[in-house]
Amino acid sequence: MKKQSIVIAGGGSTFTPGIVLMLLGNLEKFPIRQIKFYDNDGDRQDTIAKACEILIKEKAPDIAFVATTDPKVAFSDIDFVMAHIRVGKYAMREKDEKIPLKYGVIGQETCGPGGIAYGMRSIGGVLELIDFMEKYSPNAWMLNYSNPAAIVAEACRLLKPKSKVINVCDMPIGIEEKMAKFLGLSSRKEMSVRYFGLNHFGWWTDIRDNDGNDMMPKLKDYVSKHGYSAPPNMMEGQHVDESWKHTFAVAKDVYAVTPDMLPNTYLKYYFFGKDEVDHANPNYTRANEVMDGREKHVFGECSRIAKAKSSQGTTLEIDEHASYIVDLARAIAYNTKERMLLIVENNGAISNFDNTAMVEVPCIVGSQGAEPITQGKIPTFQLGLMYQQVCVEKLVVQAWAEKSKHKLYQALVLSKTVPNARIAKDLLEDLIEANKSYWPELV
Ligand code: NAD
Ligand code: G6P
Ligand code: MN
Repeated sequence: MKKQSIVIAGGGSTFTPGIVLMLLGNLEKFPIRQIKFYDNDGDRQDTIAKACEILIKEKAPDIAFVATTDPKVAFSDIDFVMAHIRVGKYAMREKDEKIPLKYGVIGQETCGPGGIAYGMRSIGGVLELIDFMEKYSPNAWMLNYSNPAAIVAEACRLLKPKSKVINVCDMPIGIEEKMAKFLGLSSRKEMSVRYFGLNHFGWWTDIRDNDGNDMMPKLKDYVSKHGYSAPPNMMEGQHVDESWKHTFAVAKDVYAVTPDMLPNTYLKYYFFGKDEVDHANPNYTRANEVMDGREKHVFGECSRIAKAKSSQGTTLEIDEHASYIVDLARAIAYNTKERMLLIVENNGAISNFDNTAMVEVPCIVGSQGAEPITQGKIPTFQLGLMYQQVCVEKLVVQAWAEKSKHKLYQALVLSKTVPNARIAKDLLEDLIEANKSYWPELV
């Protein structure tokens, strides 16, 4: 097997050490000769890089490692770009969440006005990474999980139609891991699923075990009683904080809206917007929980490792659940034809939906990229919701490309999370002010 060279863009991300440990744990499946980190915040990246350099030296000293803020160094001689940048970092995530809440509107990283604001920041950042990749390593692929993935994916489709970029999300994977546990299976790899939707906006229609047995009745029974809440002895991984427990519990009510399918957790923001706003603390949102929790832990632990020059006794964990990134890279590198849920252009996969929509459906992945698997016709209820939401996402990308303030206003008015056009207008002014140094100047 050819050894791979990868760059992690967003080297300073809280998820980077977990991903590095995961890569180091999967070298038999996905051999690596070089890992590079790239970030536009050298100081933030340094803390993570110093610890990761030690982790790599300890586990696989043959792998070359470099951390840089220089795009030429980062993107030259690369097979894969694994991109997870957060333009504006947590300081801006906090604003995405808190500004809408002032108006009694959902304040969330990827959904509603917060997601729209983040999208307007992210598009330029991700497109720049694509330009670097195509300039310095034109044969490379980018695996992007920078959020908001729905809007970023639409921007790639519209503005970089020929680029080798695949957008992917870990929420269905996280939920499928839970489902596998509820069913007593050892992992989600023992299930085969049918699923359709947009990113953070979809449904499972069929779930089988490897013998083809229908697992839906058992899962529906579980979800109708407990949502996706797991018994305490099954809680592990990324999604364990109080706010996530709440999300998994209310999945029970989200499920009751479409009892013939199993929902993605993010639909709660669209079906139960008012309840979610009432449940939120406008002074302490998820960004605060992450800054006080994951960010403190990861940066503290990385500093400790760098000082001790050893990872002995570390509490950093392999992000096993991120191994889908290796599955994806492997599928492209070695043509494994892995079946995976990805965000791709519809092109008939959902037969009664917009062909140009970026949808999330199962795909077969090989060295040519992703081939979507047909999911057929979807019901009127989901169709209506998805049309509304996909048009919001398209309007945001058009607003960014055309620098159109009015299109962004329309995106806010169209979003199911915003109840009133006057509120949309006031919100837009607030968001423009907060995002001055990140958004294109709108006219
Ligand atoms: P983080 O703020 O800890 O890390 C992001 C890093 O990106 C920072 O170090 C920042 O300096 C860097 N950055 C920002 N703009 C950049 C640019 N233009 N060029 C280069 N680097 C830049 O954030 P995090 O919480 O670790 O999350 C990272 C990203 O991964 C976010 O976009 C998050 O939403 C996403 N994510 C996606 C999924 C998914 O399902 N798709 C899952 C988890 C996280
Ligand atoms: C899930 C979603 C991601 C999102 C993340 C937020 O994994 O799929 O798209 O970024 O949750 O997690 P956080 O812990 O940062 O709130
Ligand atoms: Mn996601």
